[in-house]
Amino acid sequence: MSARDAFVSLFAGPFKGFARRVLGPSLYQQVRVTFLGEHSGLGLDWRWGNSLRRTHPVRRDFGWQAGQPIDRYYTEQHFLPGYRADIRGRVLEIADDRYTRQFGDGQVMVSDVLHLTPKAPGATIIGSLTSADHIPADSFDCIIVTFTLQFIFDVRAAIRTLARILKPGGVVLLVFPGISQISRYDMDHWGDFWRFTSLSTRRLFEEAFHPEDVTVKTYGNVLAATASLHGLITTELRREELDHWDRDYELVIGVRAVKR
Ligand SMILES: C[S@@+](CC[C@H](N)C(=O)[O-])C[C@H]1O[C@@H](n2cnc3c(N)ncnc32)[C@H](O)[C@@H]1O
Repeated sequence: MSARDAFVSLFAGPFKGFARRVLGPSLYQQVRVTFLGEHSGLGLDWRWGNSLRRTHPVRRDFGWQAGQPIDRYYTEQHFLPGYRADIRGRVLEIADDRYTRQFGDGQVMVSDVLHLTPKAPGATIIGSLTSADHIPADSFDCIIVTFTLQFIFDVRAAIRTLARILKPGGVVLLVFPGISQISRYDMDHWGDFWRFTSLSTRRLFEEAFHPEDVTVKTYGNVLAATASLHGLITTELRREELDHWDRDYELVIGVRAVKR
């Protein structure tokens, strides 16, 4: 921190503390990045030194404790809203039904949840996507697989299962990271194996689906990727910063594939 910044911090500190208490942490951050953006570097809070010269992330938990993680912004504000109409009929989601409920829009007739762990709350089907022979073929109109593919070592087997258990005309919607820290909880429980690119994603899905039925989208830019690696949250960046698309920074990858 420069001498000038240290001087400003010393006197501005009490006022910032007051503003944070009055506005609450989330609104306070939004006000800071909106009005003080040029002076706040990456959008980092002044307490963090406004510097990238640090070997520890600002937050290690993707930002979950503070608000909406940046990768979830692309999932919840871009990818899934664009495919609401696909989330209908009998819908399968992995581990919980959060996006079935959020984007199903009253078109969901049956909601299933697949979980690896026996007796997991809310699970209607127990098993792994890599060995799901107990799930009949042609079962689902829609399958939602968010932030899961990177945790499955035999990713080809998982994609074959998705294609098999979809009904003809059914749609699978997947979101997973192109750029990400390790997810420690997942690493320690079932393994965190892969980061994908749009190209490897397309090749993998074209092995199980007709190439014309596979759509791959990417989201992010260098700022969003850096911020995400630090566990910053959506309200700490401006909307236009989040929405800027740079094809060389595939922070989040989304896939829509339809079964013929
Ligand atoms: C971070 S959660 C993602 C799902 C959640 N709906 C979400 O959006 O956050 C990762 C999940 O992947 C699941 N998982 C890991 N390996 C799996 C496998 N082979 N088959 C099915 N699920 C698996 C884990 O049980 C874990 O609940």
